[in-house]
Amino acid sequence: MRASAEPFAVERTQRSRFSTIDFSNLPFGTLFSDHMLIAEYRDGRWREPKIKPYGPLTLPPNISALQYGISVFEGLKAHRSPSGDILIFRPHDNARRLNRSGGRLAMPVLPEHFFVEGLRTLLTLDHQWVPKSEQGSLYIRPTFFSVDTSIRVKPADEYLFVIFTCPIGAYFSAPLEVLITDDYVRAFPGGTGDVKPAGNYAPTLIAEQNARNAGFHHVVWLDGMERRFIEECGVMNIFFVLGDCVVTPPLTGTILGGMIRDSVLTLLREMNLRVEERKFSVDELCEAHSNGALRECFGTGTAATVSHIRRLHYKDRDLKLPDIEQRTVGPRVRERLVNIMTGREPDPYGWTELVEVSASAH
Ligand SMILES: Cc1ncc(COP(=O)(O)O)c(C=O)c1O
Repeated sequence: MRASAEPFAVERTQRSRFSTIDFSNLPFGTLFSDHMLIAEYRDGRWREPKIKPYGPLTLPPNISALQYGISVFEGLKAHRSPSGDILIFRPHDNARRLNRSGGRLAMPVLPEHFFVEGLRTLLTLDHQWVPKSEQGSLYIRPTFFSVDTSIRVKPADEYLFVIFTCPIGAYFSAPLEVLITDDYVRAFPGGTGDVKPAGNYAPTLIAEQNARNAGFHHVVWLDGMERRFIEECGVMNIFFVLGDCVVTPPLTGTILGGMIRDSVLTLLREMNLRVEERKFSVDELCEAHSNGALRECFGTGTAATVSHIRRLHYKDRDLKLPDIEQRTVGPRVRERLVNIMTGREPDPYGWTELVEVSASAH
């Protein structure tokens, strides 16, 4: 999909850090591109976004983003195609999810073009920061938060919307070993598990830390009511291959509807696989492992796209899964999706959006 860039006011950095970056050895999430986008909301209306040099914001300590967590965010990526084009993956869908998250925290609607056209303008300016296709991708973090200074607990009157980006290295996650926990829950009916407020993440850290201390990469979250049904894995959606069927938990209000989850579901159906979005209990998981039906398990999310899981642990049950080389579903769907995202294969679904970079800038 191609659309023209709507220019927003741009203040260019006088001190680009681009030439200091080693693109053959990029860390995850600690290096930020030269510019960021900022839009302000006050007196009941949005001001036009501006693009400025990336840098600190000066804010009072009493803002309700800090005090009460009135803050929501998104995560998406842009890739460089083999011919050098920049492709953003599903930005309109991320913009809509950001507004669903904001709506849940009584925040005003963010105009979708601030997100999508703003991002396009930002990437046109910082196009060099999108790594070459074999080196990695550009991770994009839109953040929308209150800068209201009242310490009353109330919907905020003033907000900022910021987009910053970071180049990240090619991310091939080693197969994961995960701990199914019933000590803590991530979400519960009527809560915020199906959206992305900042406050969803801090309470998961202790469970993730405990899992890491016990030798696992991530926690698998169970439902908050019965602690029986599998919901997510770390900050990923989760899929199981059982015989010739692929099962993933349904979006019934406690699970984040991932863009990668949705894309993977589409591609699995394209591959003529039987797909079921249904509740899947830990008892059924153990049973499927015992009778040999459980062939694969993988997590999906923007950071790693598809992460294979090789071992699940629940109480005294240790469930080892077949080697990645023997798998047919996870590796295939990952390859197809990555090829679409990076422009190696045509995109029949309109997921990728091309950023115009003038010929002289290439
Ligand atoms: C809790 C949670 N689940 C799932 C996902 C995967 O979502 P996506 O595929 O949009 O990256 C994320 C990442 O945003 C997440 O934070």
